[in-house]
Amino acid sequence: MAFDIDMIQKVYAEMAERVDSAREVVGKPLTLAEKILYAHLWDKTPGKAFERGVDYVDFAPDRIACQDATAQMALLQFMHAGKPKVAVPTTVHCDHLIQAKVGADKDLRRANETSNEVFDFLGSVSNKYGIGFWKPGAGIIHQVVLENYAFPGGMMIGTDSHTVNAGGLGMIAIGVGGADAVDVMAGMPWELKFPKLIGVKLTGKLSGWTAPKDVILKVAGILTVKGGTGAIIEYFGEGAEAMSCTGKGTICNMGAEVGATTSTFGYDASMDRYLRSTGRADVADAANEVKEYLTGDAEVYANPEQYFDQVIEINLDELEPHLNGPFTPDLATPISRMKEAAKENDWPLKVEYGLIGSCTNSSYEDISRAASLAKQVSDKKLRTKSNFTITPGSEQVRYTIERDGLIDTFNKIGATVFANACGPCIGMWDREGADKEERNTIVHSFNRNFAKRADGNPNTLAFVGSPELVTAIAISGRLDFNPLKDKLINEDGEEVMLDEPRGYELPPEGFAVEDAGYQAPAEDGSGVDVAVAPTSERLQLLTPFQPWDGKNITGARLLIKAFGKCTTDHISMAGPWLRYRGHLDNISNNCLIGAVNAYNMKTNFVKNQLTGEYGGVPDTQRAYKAAGIPTIVVGDHNYGEGSSREHAAMEPRHLGVKVVLVKSFARIHETNLKKQGMLALTFANEADYDLIQEDDTFNLVDLEEFAPGKQITIEVTHKDGSKDVIKTNHSYNEGQIGWFRAGSALNLIAAGKA
Ligand code: F3S
Repeated sequence: MAFDIDMIQKVYAEMAERVDSAREVVGKPLTLAEKILYAHLWDKTPGKAFERGVDYVDFAPDRIACQDATAQMALLQFMHAGKPKVAVPTTVHCDHLIQAKVGADKDLRRANETSNEVFDFLGSVSNKYGIGFWKPGAGIIHQVVLENYAFPGGMMIGTDSHTVNAGGLGMIAIGVGGADAVDVMAGMPWELKFPKLIGVKLTGKLSGWTAPKDVILKVAGILTVKGGTGAIIEYFGEGAEAMSCTGKGTICNMGAEVGATTSTFGYDASMDRYLRSTGRADVADAANEVKEYLTGDAEVYANPEQYFDQVIEINLDELEPHLNGPFTPDLATPISRMKEAAKENDWPLKVEYGLIGSCTNSSYEDISRAASLAKQVSDKKLRTKSNFTITPGSEQVRYTIERDGLIDTFNKIGATVFANACGPCIGMWDREGADKEERNTIVHSFNRNFAKRADGNPNTLAFVGSPELVTAIAISGRLDFNPLKDKLINEDGEEVMLDEPRGYELPPEGFAVEDAGYQAPAEDGSGVDVAVAPTSERLQLLTPFQPWDGKNITGARLLIKAFGKCTTDHISMAGPWLRYRGHLDNISNNCLIGAVNAYNMKTNFVKNQLTGEYGGVPDTQRAYKAAGIPTIVVGDHNYGEGSSREHAAMEPRHLGVKVVLVKSFARIHETNLKKQGMLALTFANEADYDLIQEDDTFNLVDLEEFAPGKQITIEVTHKDGSKDVIKTNHSYNEGQIGWFRAGSALNLIAAGKA
């Protein structure tokens, strides 16, 4: 489906030279991750060996993928870049805005009614700027990418944390914020701290009840939710090669759950088979030509301790099926220990729902193995005890499993088939009775299981397992059912055991689809109108931010001095606000409403220095803006940690905040502030945070000499007339000061100066 074989061949044509020269510079054999990273340097040749976990490096990704929730603001921004087309192949996927309730057809119809204007906007903007558009119902971004766009040795960024799924096809695929995606769409480099490397050696072979999912559930138990931070996980060994490509995708997908930058596997026969079965024989042929560059050097895998920062070894012959949870994906329990664990923790044993599918686990292999269990329900005269749902990852998978009778098999156990969309995985599940907030247990094959993630009920205990284990547990209706050992009682009162799941790696009769749901962009989009109604409450065209007037900022008032942790969630909350992701003015009504005011320890309750009254942060800030008074936000350590969402930087900028002054920044948020033309400063002396009082006025007395490495002085006048002069640091380079002067990075690109 419109994958770009020319682009892929170009990547491969340059691969050998780039990797060979990198090997010379680094001076030792290379891992696969290093090969792909060095082959995608913006500067083409490395001037030096990069220090892992230290050096920031500019890259040139091959592709971009965006989902509908994050694409809105990204594309609204891109419209300002003044470019006729995106600079690298890009796709948009409508999957997050479809609520699961009764079943695919009705749910999809309802989503098309409620989010029509968003889909229309995304469709028209994609058409105009050369972006491939996957309509609602076409599938979940990561499954569609794996089926159509991922390719061994490629580098991709995507505006969703599970973009990493494409590592299953040997890519370096990384989740980013919209601002990063916009830069790359506009033809700019993409910066990443050169990652550390974790090697996972898989010995033995999966068999019986154990599935690829159990590998990552085990890894999550070892590494915990933070253990992969700043690292790429590279899997290798005989166990990796014996596994299906889609199974590898599942493992890479959930690398996000251990905080890894991404995960990947070396090119092998399973990838060749998957490429051919998904209509990409030419990609497989091209990959085979350069295959030694699409996997780590043999010496690396022979002596991994010498080349990786950390090595984990897992013997697949001994690996047990796992259930991870509740409330965190790293609480790993092997199935043989579940009886005890459930008892110790008082987890409700009755399982209300088993849910399979999602971007993580809806391959043909997953579904056919799960169906082999569902089929045993009638064969062995059993009855399925839990409710059961399937969320196919793409229309291609859905169509194929329907053709092959697998949906019919699931229907016979009373399953509900949801739309090919995120649905219950992202809380878009209108589960009956969830509002009663009763304590209950569900099992699913998705990736995340934080409180409220699936149905909004904080008392739903969600356990993550392979689709086959989820199906077996749903049939039994019990969390502590161990299908390897336990018997079930059938309608005739006989004890029966479920046979091991069996399935097909790929559909024996090939994949098929009638309408994949893809819309190719116009060849020449210059005449395409992008429709945004001025009355819309969900979408708003952006107005470029004003350039800096070149003068010192004087008379600025304090909007809020945030106490303690202030993450991007505190600055721009999620939940119901997701609805306004494409409307900057409306979503700005959540600006900093989660931040704690250091003077009264309350949230969304700050002093308006113009009236002396207290009110919400956004309203107070709008009053300052209306009066033409600049403002400053003061914060603590690691300000802006959390997600990379650019709204957290755009909202204060839109509302007229001029400066964010903190003890330290989370780096991505600091960059986002710079990109939006905001002044991001840090206290030279951290203790000066304590000098800031509620009624202070601020003068930046030497901003006119703004230059790299030069401190900025702020004169702070307190209510009693006394003054403190504080020094602040910044990390702007020349180019970034250019963004500040222009009003934003995009303004500079639009002016053709970036
Ligand atoms: Fe969607 Fe869940 Fe995957 S939200 S993209 S199905 S992680």
